[in-house]
Amino acid sequence: MNRIAIYPGSFDPVTRGHEDIVERSLQFADRIIVAVAVSLSKAPLFSLEERLRLLNEVFSGESRVEVRSFDGLLANFARQCDAHLVIRGLRAVSDFEYELQMALMNRRLHSELETVFLMPAVDLTFLSSSLVREVASLGGDVGAFVHPAVERALRARFNNDIQ
Ligand code: PNS
Repeated sequence: MNRIAIYPGSFDPVTRGHEDIVERSLQFADRIIVAVAVSLSKAPLFSLEERLRLLNEVFSGESRVEVRSFDGLLANFARQCDAHLVIRGLRAVSDFEYELQMALMNRRLHSELETVFLMPAVDLTFLSSSLVREVASLGGDVGAFVHPAVERALRARFNNDIQ
């Protein structure tokens, strides 16, 4: 059985938390499509091309992970990919309301689409792309929270000499 799961998000940028969720998903999915949303409500720090490049670098060693972008509804993209699973990370209760709404809306739009919520490793539960962006923009060390390629990209973006 070829169980395809979609892991959608902004990935601006990809963090160790995202990597952790992908690793966990590989235990029950045969293939993971990391799907980068083209249209975002807010202007991203990294362009779509940069986010795709970083994700491809981060998951280069994992043949079962494919990085793609998608525009429009996630439910339609899932149909195109013949995927029936959506993976989302759930860090805290504060994530829950938004995630529940999205999961139920996606199910209305595509009745055979199930959303699976995964908890990241406990030491990554505080982590978010927005916090990483903020810390990096203020010259803080984000080396523990992101892949070295992402750290380099952040350093270049903010022109920081992170020690
Ligand atoms: O990392 P994020 O920003 O929490 O990801 C949110 C994302 C991209 C998964 C969500 O906004 C999404 O699925 N966008 C695609 C458009 C869509 O299908 N909207 C209806 C969702 S119920």
